[in-house]
Amino acid sequence: MFKLHPRKCPELGCVAALLHLALLLSPLSCRTQDIDSCSEGMQKKALISLYEASGGPSWVNNELWTIDAHCVRSPGLRPGVPDNVVVPDITLPPFCCWAGVDCCLSESYIANYTACGQYQCNCTVGKVTGLNLGRNGLKGRLQDVLNATVLTGLACSLRMAFLGGNELTGKIPQEISQLRDIRILGFSTNALTGSIPSSLEDLNQLEELDLSNNQLTGSVPSKLCGGTERPSNLRDLVLSNNNLTGRLVLPDCEALINLDVQNNFLSGPILDISSYRQLHILRLGNNQFNGTVNFDMFDLRLLVLLDLALNK
Ligand SMILES: *[C@@H]1O[C@H](CO)[C@@H](O)[C@H](O)[C@H]1NC(C)=O
Ligand SMILES: *[C@@H]1O[C@H](CO)[C@@H](O)[C@H](O)[C@H]1NC(C)=O
Ligand SMILES: *[C@@H]1O[C@H](CO)[C@@H](O)[C@H](O)[C@H]1NC(C)=O
Ligand SMILES: *[C@@H]1O[C@H](CO)[C@@H](O)[C@H](O)[C@H]1NC(C)=O
Ligand SMILES: *[C@@H]1O[C@H](CO)[C@@H](O)[C@H](O)[C@H]1NC(C)=O
Repeated sequence: MFKLHPRKCPELGCVAALLHLALLLSPLSCRTQDIDSCSEGMQKKALISLYEASGGPSWVNNELWTIDAHCVRSPGLRPGVPDNVVVPDITLPPFCCWAGVDCCLSESYIANYTACGQYQCNCTVGKVTGLNLGRNGLKGRLQDVLNATVLTGLACSLRMAFLGGNELTGKIPQEISQLRDIRILGFSTNALTGSIPSSLEDLNQLEELDLSNNQLTGSVPSKLCGGTERPSNLRDLVLSNNNLTGRLVLPDCEALINLDVQNNFLSGPILDISSYRQLHILRLGNNQFNGTVNFDMFDLRLLVLLDLALNK
């Protein structure tokens, strides 16, 4: 199933596990599965799986994919930072140079690096943090493209997955919640069907979710902002141009800046936005909402765009 790396795993449990394979299933094995599923080998395997399942050889840009070339990157300096600030080059695993793959470049959070804004700081150097594969000719069923091999191999480090503007079909897999550090998830403008999995409610770090321009049906999970148990990080929620139905209830979205659900079949009362302290853009147009909007509680000064057209 997975191999042990005893050198990274000094606890007694691991030594015992080496002698006794059965111990792998016990909690004493010091999260061996976590450590090993995130190894360079497993991350490479995950990326190759994704490539094979989505027609990699015919992608628009598949530069260097699957090739083991020497890979060196620099975190880059933010504009305005004096160029006497030293930026060391970093040697990374070969897959970090495959087109569209971002890897962690700095273990610490160094605000002078451009890479920090792309979620490549404050992480384990050399791990895959981003997949920028939008408008790249990816084909296939999403549940095959993001299968267990891919999700397990990238779960420990992936923070951004942008797969918008491709030809992906099928469903958003329930197992997507394995990507526990994901902040940006973009599957817009594909041909996805089925419902929005409720497991997305478990993604604590989620900041942007864009599922617009698909054929998604069913209702919108009500705890996408996480409920009262944890602070919400969700800033952008874009679900427009789908076939979503039912009531829209999204409590505890205090970080939400942009909510766009226009062009669906959502119904019932307009959602309660009283906790949305940061809301700038609200698009509810072309649905079947009835009732009135209660603006008393939230700060209208922030709202720059409000679209309620074509409701009841
Ligand atoms: C995931 O997909 C890849 C490519 O199609 C395949 O090689 C691999 O066996 C699949 N993994 C699982 C767990 O099905
Ligand atoms: C960022 O650059 C400034 C100079 O513009 C420097 O004073 C500061 O120490 C740098 N910060 C870090 C964390 O490197
Ligand atoms: C860096 O990562 C740690 C652990 O994930 C987190 O607690 C901390 O807030 C992060 N720091 C910054 C500046 O993002
Ligand atoms: C979505 O709605 C459109 C317009 O009513 C319809 O043509 C299409 O078949 C629907 N798709 C799904 C997957 O329900
Ligand atoms: C909105 O529609 C629902 C049924 O879809 C109905 O029960 C409710 O009374 C309506 N509310 C208003 C304010 O018209």
